[in-house]
Amino acid sequence: MNFVIQSVGSYIPAKRVTNDELALTLDTSDEWIRSHTGIGYRHIASDDEAASDLGYKAALDALQHASIDVRKLGGIITATATPDYYGFPSTACVIQDKLKAQPAFAFDVAAGCSGFIYGLEIAKGLLRQESMQHILVIGTEKLTSVVDWKDRNSVLFGDGAGAVIVSSEKADNGVRGIIDSELHADGSGADSLMVAAGGSRKPMKLGNLPMEEITLRMEGRRVYNFAVSVIVGTLRSLMERNQLGIDDISYIVPHQANIRIIQAAAKRLGFPFEKFYVNIEDLANTSAASIPIALKEMDEKGLLRRGDTIVTIGFGSGLTYGGNVIVW
Ligand code: ACO
Repeated sequence: MNFVIQSVGSYIPAKRVTNDELALTLDTSDEWIRSHTGIGYRHIASDDEAASDLGYKAALDALQHASIDVRKLGGIITATATPDYYGFPSTACVIQDKLKAQPAFAFDVAAGCSGFIYGLEIAKGLLRQESMQHILVIGTEKLTSVVDWKDRNSVLFGDGAGAVIVSSEKADNGVRGIIDSELHADGSGADSLMVAAGGSRKPMKLGNLPMEEITLRMEGRRVYNFAVSVIVGTLRSLMERNQLGIDDISYIVPHQANIRIIQAAAKRLGFPFEKFYVNIEDLANTSAASIPIALKEMDEKGLLRRGDTIVTIGFGSGLTYGGNVIVW
């Protein structure tokens, strides 16, 4: 059997905020943000939009493009670090209800920005075992709900959602779809990217929690070094396992965290930068949503042609990292 990405959808909130607008209330500048990150804008969800609302709209887009009746969905997997509620219920169940879908399962994957990469491989494994044909995999984030606008790292993040339908089909016309994945985790780096309070370690009910504990904190340099090294290592490993040279790959689709991370990895690998699909200028870092949003853009631009080999590559809190090899 093949496990193919049958369609891609996305949803980007309308409100677009420039670097100059952030610089009105934060000690930063358009020049610094662009030169250090490649980011020009970020989109911000409205107060009444949560991760499930963004994910629901991306899912509708993917379903429409696949022309699949929602009743045919066997499962819903939602990758998010900013769920609607902390555990009760999962964001996937909220989206299931909005879609009026009746899948066998709906659950969230908590793997930070690598969540979508994890989700694709989990969907493939479940399709192989279960008697179902289609799984909806969503990456959705309202990161602005956990940023502290007084923290300079807040300039890095934005909101958005992307979704794909992964379907099983007979491999009559050759092998395609998700052909290989690598998933990794290194919990020793957990404290470099975290929201310290609000979970069971320091419950919200204790009250009086300081802003720096209820918002996302990051040791930028440490995460930067980790990111460059795992992009290089994971790409090398996936390419070796699948006997791929750089000319066999149409596009590498990296998690969009910082253009300098991607440039540094490309340089270290000796790969042309043009092989990496980059859209960080317009959307900033949307965590688990960044890869499916990039896939949607590429689809609209006609960059995903049947038979092309695409490699996704991501890293994030946990620390987690990984990648998928997909023959479109
Ligand atoms: N605006 C203006 N100046 C700033 C800002 C800002 N937003 N942030 C830091 N600076 C200043 C610092 O204070 C420092 O000033 P100093 O030299 O006077 O002390 C100077 O810029 C350099 O600071 P560094 O921290 O060394 O800057 P760096 O070049 O490392 O860039 C950054 C910081 C952008 C955070 C970078 O380290 C990075 O991209 N790290 C990885 C981030 C990442 O990938 N995060 C997400 C991964 S997981 C997920 O996606 C949720």
